Amino acid sequence: MNIETISSAPYDDQKPGTSGLRKKVTVFQQPHYLANFVQSVFDSLEDCNGKSLVLGGDGRYYNRDAIQIIIKIAAANGFNELIIGQGGLLSTPAASHIIRKNKAYGGLILSASHNAGGPTEDFGIKYNISNGGPAPEKYTNDFFKRSLEITEYKLAEIDDVDLDTQGEFDLEGLKIRIIDPVTDYAELMASIFDFDLLKQALSSGYISMCFDAMHAITGPYATRILEEILGAPAGTVINGIPLEDFGGGHPDPNLVHAKELASLMFTADAPDFAAASDGDGDRNMVLGANIFVTPSDSLAIMAANAQHIPAYSKGISGVARSMPTSQAVDRVAAALNLPCFETPTGWKFFSNLLDADSITLCGEESFGSGSNHVREKDGLWAVLFWLNLIAKRRQSVEDIVHEHWQQFGRDIYSRHDYEAVDNEIANGIVNHLRELLPSLTGKSFGEYTVSYADEFCYEDPIDKSISDQQGIRIGFENGSRIIFRLSGTGTVGATLRIYLEKFSKEADAHTQEPQQALAELIELAEQFCEVKQRTGRIEPTVIT
Ligand code: G1P
Ligand code: ZN
Repeated sequence: MNIETISSAPYDDQKPGTSGLRKKVTVFQQPHYLANFVQSVFDSLEDCNGKSLVLGGDGRYYNRDAIQIIIKIAAANGFNELIIGQGGLLSTPAASHIIRKNKAYGGLILSASHNAGGPTEDFGIKYNISNGGPAPEKYTNDFFKRSLEITEYKLAEIDDVDLDTQGEFDLEGLKIRIIDPVTDYAELMASIFDFDLLKQALSSGYISMCFDAMHAITGPYATRILEEILGAPAGTVINGIPLEDFGGGHPDPNLVHAKELASLMFTADAPDFAAASDGDGDRNMVLGANIFVTPSDSLAIMAANAQHIPAYSKGISGVARSMPTSQAVDRVAAALNLPCFETPTGWKFFSNLLDADSITLCGEESFGSGSNHVREKDGLWAVLFWLNLIAKRRQSVEDIVHEHWQQFGRDIYSRHDYEAVDNEIANGIVNHLRELLPSLTGKSFGEYTVSYADEFCYEDPIDKSISDQQGIRIGFENGSRIIFRLSGTGTVGATLRIYLEKFSKEADAHTQEPQQALAELIELAEQFCEVKQRTGRIEPTVIT
């Protein structure tokens, strides 16, 4: 195989964020931009020679071009096997599983998750290590450092690979396997859940449901599993064909971007269950007739009901949530006497805990939940978990959630996002909050007395690594919290996220409307961070 060395010059903006490197497509299309980053990853890894690499993406615009470039660089850097999803497609959780199943050295996943796609929208790339999980910070720091020094990259002189035909072939000593993106993943799901019970429930109409794939990667996965394997009626999956621009929509499963589905669930025609997933298939939104399940509650309910799912029926070892996720799961852990960990935002912080079997289930408020079956969050897994639960308990989503609140109390929760804020203003807000923190403890604001005010710093219990500046926390004596942090996944300006949480043990907790119940905390948040005052905005861009 002929290998060219191409001279290049560093870009200074290739620092991976919360989940890999995300930029506008036009940024990735600059000369050598993607190649520089990929070579920086390979240079930072110990030795790629003779190793196997998994490759796939969410099918967004630039996915195919990027895969051809990566194949040539991977070949030139000594990998001897590439496992690629047919059509260049792999959902993020499926990629994680395929890395683990094949004991691959790692994988490159092409996705900007829930960000919009298309020629003027977003693209992204991230590296996952051999446990199937996103590269931890010690790796991503090295990738960035290398990207600032890079002067050349290696490229194999080979033809473009036909991505559309499954099979295995040899390309001058490089083994290429084009695999069905769904098969292995579907087998994994069948090993976790009670597929016989689900078949009965879905094919008989005992559970009626609608799954919105949002024109993104879960289309083929959901169609195969829900309709073909489990026998749900054709048409159960909507928007099921992955499109390069996600049909012009925003593939983010929340009440704002999956509005149609959400509204359907509050009408008389609502099916028993509805769910949606994001661009790369790792997020999930879950709804029942007349009820939206917040991701924080979803995690808590899963933890409290794990015994109903075959794979977890013998018990779970512990649970974890990201810091801004509500404390609902903590209450379950306390009741079940399970270890409970609070980690920084981003799935990569769960991997060590999962590898060490310190936890079995984990989740984030940002519509993500998962378990030890892979090292990514997993949208369809969460959907199947809920279906299995409804079928086993023979109760509606609403009843399951209300019973949970009755038993554990309710953590009323909402997140307010201010998107595309001028970077200087956003940094000003964070600095202002940092200055405010030392004066807050002990102060009272109406019924809210501050019990702690700090900036979250995490020490990984397994490898003892420290991650600081992970968000500003203001906790109150009554268990309420306000959290502020800047997003690490945006591509335009800065996004300020404000997380609001109030605990209620009242018998009527289920009747409370979150924005109303949180009104005082929302005002307090503004008093602390001054986002409206400093930006001139009158309301958040997105409320979830
Ligand atoms: C967001 C979410 C975070 C999630 C990440 C990747 O990151 O808040 O929980 O892990 O996307 O899906 P952020 O933009 O807040 O840095
Ligand atoms: Zn995603």
